[in-house]
Amino acid sequence: MTRSAKFLKRSVALGAATLAALSLQPSTAGAAGAPTPSSGTPGTRVVGGVPAAQGEFPFMVRLSMGCGGSLYRQDIVLTAAHCVDGSGNNTSITATAGVVDLQSSSAVKVKSTKVLQAPGYNGNGKDWALIKLARPITNLSTLRTTTDGRYDQGDFVVAGWGAAREGGGQQRYLRKATVPFVDTPTCQRVYGSAYIPGEEICAGIMRTGGVDTCQGDSGGPMFRKDDAGAWVQVGIVSWGEGCARPGKPGVYTRVSAFSQAIAKAADQLRR
Ligand code: ARG
Repeated sequence: MTRSAKFLKRSVALGAATLAALSLQPSTAGAAGAPTPSSGTPGTRVVGGVPAAQGEFPFMVRLSMGCGGSLYRQDIVLTAAHCVDGSGNNTSITATAGVVDLQSSSAVKVKSTKVLQAPGYNGNGKDWALIKLARPITNLSTLRTTTDGRYDQGDFVVAGWGAAREGGGQQRYLRKATVPFVDTPTCQRVYGSAYIPGEEICAGIMRTGGVDTCQGDSGGPMFRKDDAGAWVQVGIVSWGEGCARPGKPGVYTRVSAFSQAIAKAADQLRR
């Protein structure tokens, strides 16, 4: 079952993206940065979202292979394991930060030095990775990751430069949307054993669809306000069947399950 589940997940994630830049295909990364704004529905519609304001989510990072990420430390980006090739020295990734407009002349661009993919990652669950940057980005705030499960509920914010509709192109301007938590039994009913509850958390509008992350948003954060009113990261964009389809929620890495492992990995990257 593990094999077929993995296959389903892969085929689903890849099949939906005809035009969209895919995290796994660096060749499409250029398109992500190209000055081609929204493809289908200008103005509104991540899918079903709206443009984010400059400075609204200062921790948002765009990665050159066509993924999103969040600033975990000043010199470490948290992203999805499926966005990177493996672990080790890697100077091929460029992180763009500090802007909603990827074409902005004030964009901060920093190269990677190392990648650390989640230990034991095999395409099922554990979809997280860290990217060490060549220098710290000092003028932007980092995004705290949740250390326990108490924020794994409620409404979440997602943001990214990925497709604004299933099969659509990458976005020049950062978009944001709000997606409600989908409980574990419901998500299990939808995705069966492809969904790993201990490692993944689902969000979306079950009845109608219409709001979701999509291809190119992978690796970006799903976050909410904590009790102190500060943003806290609860998820990492991972996969889903299509984008924003009714009854097909987005699946996100459950950050609360990995916060310890991520912290440990970040320490390792420091040396
Ligand atoms: N795997 C996709 C990527 O690489 C993200 C898909 C998210 N899909 C969803 N329906 N929420 O960009």
